[in-house]
Amino acid sequence: MIRVGIITASDKGAAGEREDRSAEVIREMVATLPGEVVAYEILPDEKELLAATLRAWCDQERVDLLLTTGGTGLAPRDVTPEATRAVAERPVPGIAEAMRLASLKATPMAMLSRAVAATRGRTLIVNLPGSPKAVRECLEAILPALPHGLEILQGRFTEH
Ligand code: MTE
Repeated sequence: MIRVGIITASDKGAAGEREDRSAEVIREMVATLPGEVVAYEILPDEKELLAATLRAWCDQERVDLLLTTGGTGLAPRDVTPEATRAVAERPVPGIAEAMRLASLKATPMAMLSRAVAATRGRTLIVNLPGSPKAVRECLEAILPALPHGLEILQGRFTEH
């Protein structure tokens, strides 16, 4: 089982003004990995708060896969990629490239997501855009590569 953490970055969600359907889509899709969601929080779009939570879930909770949703666009309060970069040790640009490549087939708006992916310790962090539709499209593109990526990241891959 892959241990998954979900952080929803949304001022409205954190204020209880919006139902978190994006996290529901993530839960449904990571179950197929198979993965289990061991940590989940809705946070406002505050860079320091997001970075502190990302850091704690990598270093203390030791989640394998940390998926964020929201806050990747161009709105003034969108800071999820900045928070992720602040805690990142090694960027994994191919994951964000694959998401944008696949997403551009669905909508030209896909180029407006500044999502990044990176490792910190044994955790892989991936930013997803905020809408349930975007979450589904992006996860569909990257899910097939994640189990092998995590295996390599965690040193569990042996030559066969
Ligand atoms: N990616 C996919 N696959 N499908 C989408 O509908 N919407 C885009 C983009 N990425 C979209 C997508 C839009 S409209 C925006 S504004 C950006 O993601 C940023 O979204 P966010 O600020 O909610 O993270």
